[in-house]
Amino acid sequence: MPRQAYVNGSYRPHREAAVHIEDRGYLFADGVYEVVPVHNGILVDEDLHLDRLDRSLSELQIEAPMSRPALKLVSRELMRRNGLSNGFLYMQVTRGVAPRDHKFPNNATPALVMMTRQMKPHSEKILSEGLKVITLPDQRWARCDIKSVSLLPNVLGKQAAAEAGAYEAWQVDGEGQVTEGTSTNAWIVTEGNRVITRDASNAILNGITRITLLNLIRAEGYELEERPFSVDEAKTAREAFLTSSTSFVLPVTQIDGQPVGNGHPGILTTKLRQHYMDYMQSLRQSA
Ligand code: PDD
Repeated sequence: MPRQAYVNGSYRPHREAAVHIEDRGYLFADGVYEVVPVHNGILVDEDLHLDRLDRSLSELQIEAPMSRPALKLVSRELMRRNGLSNGFLYMQVTRGVAPRDHKFPNNATPALVMMTRQMKPHSEKILSEGLKVITLPDQRWARCDIKSVSLLPNVLGKQAAAEAGAYEAWQVDGEGQVTEGTSTNAWIVTEGNRVITRDASNAILNGITRITLLNLIRAEGYELEERPFSVDEAKTAREAFLTSSTSFVLPVTQIDGQPVGNGHPGILTTKLRQHYMDYMQSLRQSA
């Protein structure tokens, strides 16, 4: 059976699934999205993702396209149709279809699409060697806490990273402090073994992986500080890593061509990745 997608009320073959040319997501990036990891067929932290979706929608004054139980039902049905075991569920909600006009339309119906993608586990090479990161000025808007589909600076940053042979670009604010990656949150570990990640504010997307990892770090009793850190502090840190729904926890071993610590994935980073993997393994699907 070919892969399917959900588009505004119906399940369609993925390769034919399409939205209207006057969908405001297409015209204005007037919409929001979520990427929910799926591990062993289970949606990881589903309610936290749906809470963030609700928040993003309400910040943009877009109505929820359906109730939470209905969203969960459609998610499960699409996963079942696609036999999704490990990968992610993508959902996007836009303000809907209306004649092109910047201001909100009077009576558009929010548009909902969902798709799934199966993913391979991260390679041994990435886990044993770690990732390269470059740094770039953060060129985004002042509401990075909203998970908007308007991702052009993120796209340009990720492309610059790829062209530099790196996996990610850490974006840097006007004060020289790292905000986050283009699709991941940024973390370091100090010489004193304190885990540092930027505090949640309008300057970053409060990652669900970030939230869960913070809880695991607290539960394990590791030293933790949520505060900005500079590029210099990152480059001289003992360890660095990044988190997201598709990366989980991945070691960063080079920043702007300079090795982090001894240039190998950090001991604490490796432990934290294991804690996160164990956490996903322990989950049972809610109804
Ligand atoms: N990106 N910061 C940004 C800018 C992101 O786009 C993401 C997620 C994160 C991490 O959030 P989470 O832990 O909830 O995945 C941080 C997703 C994976 C994406 O756009 O593909």
